[in-house]
Amino acid sequence: MKLKIAVLPGDGIGPEIMDVAVNVIKAVCKKYNHELHYQTALVGACAIDATGSPYPEETHQLCMASDAVLFGAIGSPKYDNDPSAKIRPEQGLLAMRKKLGLFANIRPITTFKNLIHKSPLRSELVDGADFICIRELTGGLYFGRPQGRSEDGSTAYDTCIYSRFEIERIVRLAYQYAEKRKKKVTVVDKANILATSRLWRQVAKEISADFPDVTTEYLYVDNAAMRMIQWPKDFDVIVTENMFGDILTDESSVITGSLGMLPSASIGTHTSVFEPIHGSYPQAAGRNIANPLATVLSAAMMLEYSFGMTEEANLIREAVNASMEAEIVTEDIAQKGAKSYGTNQVGNWLVNYINQY
Ligand code: IPM
Ligand code: MN
Repeated sequence: MKLKIAVLPGDGIGPEIMDVAVNVIKAVCKKYNHELHYQTALVGACAIDATGSPYPEETHQLCMASDAVLFGAIGSPKYDNDPSAKIRPEQGLLAMRKKLGLFANIRPITTFKNLIHKSPLRSELVDGADFICIRELTGGLYFGRPQGRSEDGSTAYDTCIYSRFEIERIVRLAYQYAEKRKKKVTVVDKANILATSRLWRQVAKEISADFPDVTTEYLYVDNAAMRMIQWPKDFDVIVTENMFGDILTDESSVITGSLGMLPSASIGTHTSVFEPIHGSYPQAAGRNIANPLATVLSAAMMLEYSFGMTEEANLIREAVNASMEAEIVTEDIAQKGAKSYGTNQVGNWLVNYINQY
């Protein structure tokens, strides 16, 4: 099979972790005789510096012409510390989501045995937790207009807006996932306060009727945030709007022990994008200490989701598990007092594992 992949490393640690992921994909392609075509393009702060735009048209065209996009991370302190900056790297990510129609962001939250000791929660609470968050990604407060300031600058406003079709397609997706999993959907909203949430709940109620074997639970977002750290094992599929999903997925990611392990898929009307859920970690850029595993696992998700390569994806996951068992890991997930390894050493180990398998 032929894989046509757009590689968007982005900023900070993006290029280093992407190198590892690409090498892993190359090794898998070699093993399974797949033909790999990949092309790199700019996104984020590096794209602003080079072209003036955080998501240049050229990058967009490449994404549109590819079968999948592998994305590193974006963001730079140069822009974070300047609230007056008109163009920001994050706008590149939002533009990409909108232009590729990536309405669903899927973040699986799974635990890793050797990482449980790093969780801020007691191990018996997290051990075995396994759920996915499905976050709406192209609507709500992130994109609602009007947004801005009053003329004298003393008032600011954002708009939360959702239409029925936007809710329907994502809620339906959540039920489809739940059907193949533990058959439970948790709809997270703030229906006691927000009009958009009341529409979400109404639409979710209608759609739930089409999935009689799936249990539905409705939670207000504040309660969901609490339950997630009290009973993470209670969840199966969580579906929610853009901003709530942004917050809840950060919360859910750390209960597993490390932000450095979790992949994500953004899917929609055009090419799907696969990316680690962590940021660009600028303090670590160029130091060969960044954990590449979330990006490697995102590559596995890509092979499975975009190319139907379950066996290949599982080989990558197995290599990742083996590296953790062998304790060939970066310092963020190393056991106390144990030796840790550089980003590229972990990468080489994974490639060797796959080659020898
Ligand atoms: C994420 C990030 C982005 C978001 C930022 C970088 C715009 O936090 O993917 O969760 O808020 O969606
Ligand atoms: Mn976020």
